Amino acid sequence: MQERIVYLNGAFVPESEAKVSVLDSGFNAGDGVYDVTRTFRHKPFRMREHTERLFRSLRYTRIDCGMSVEEMEKTTLEVLERNRPLLGANDDCALWQVVSRGVRSAVGNRVAGGATVTVYSVIVNFPEFASFYVEGAPLVIPSTRRIPPECLESKAKITNKMNHNMASFEAKQADPRAIPLMLDIHGNLSETSAHNFFLVIDGKLCTPSDRNVLGGITKAAIFELAKELRVEVIEGDYTPFDLYNAEEASGEHQPHICADQDRQRREDRQWRPRTRHASSDRRME
Ligand SMILES: Cc1ncc(COP(=O)(O)O)c(C=O)c1O
Repeated sequence: MQERIVYLNGAFVPESEAKVSVLDSGFNAGDGVYDVTRTFRHKPFRMREHTERLFRSLRYTRIDCGMSVEEMEKTTLEVLERNRPLLGANDDCALWQVVSRGVRSAVGNRVAGGATVTVYSVIVNFPEFASFYVEGAPLVIPSTRRIPPECLESKAKITNKMNHNMASFEAKQADPRAIPLMLDIHGNLSETSAHNFFLVIDGKLCTPSDRNVLGGITKAAIFELAKELRVEVIEGDYTPFDLYNAEEASGEHQPHICADQDRQRREDRQWRPRTRHASSDRRME
């Protein structure tokens, strides 16, 4: 089988040759940022927005990737092209742009050279979440709270995912399929480990304010769809009380729409199958 081609620091190489130093600050300290653009029917969805978000994360963390937005976008498209032969007709892929501060020197443990820049492609594992479209997905509110922006800005997509991982471990202890819905330190709903979160309350689309969540590209797309459909969108503070009383709840990010529950079913402690949603794949092309 043909090997995946990976971009690493200026070269396109087979994955087995894409080696990063053990002294890399990304490996040692989660000192890096990333972004992920998904394809729909082999076409990247909003790559410019994702790449611009990557650059906002880079500016915030003071990492210089040595490339412009245009160069990063061109490189990412090249990775897609070089890996296209590995994509089946019904496959899609997630294009990962990952940048760490770089390799620490052996003396003094400081990063001396430039950033480590890599772009690679991963096939989307549809079977992993296909059932969420029809059965919904269980959510657990873990005790782990989302790190507040006073400590680490939620708008930046940082490779250190331990806050989200801890929330996920806790949720999966309650139910191996569960997705963690994290609260902020004030007890308001924030986001899951990988999705922005939406409620339908009195027919309005409600979502946590952008203070303690990632500025999702999917969320922006949903706002546009809501406008088109004349559905009112409200960004604000919501608590678990609002979740229990909402007509619907769903988590959204690029690979999929993870949870979509209905109040009646929730009262029955079951998840009502729901099929399509305004932000379904069909609309993401
Ligand atoms: C913590 C977190 N929130 C929200 C999102 C949704 O972002 P997007 O819609 O840009 O995929 C992600 C995506 O991976 C995420 O990791």
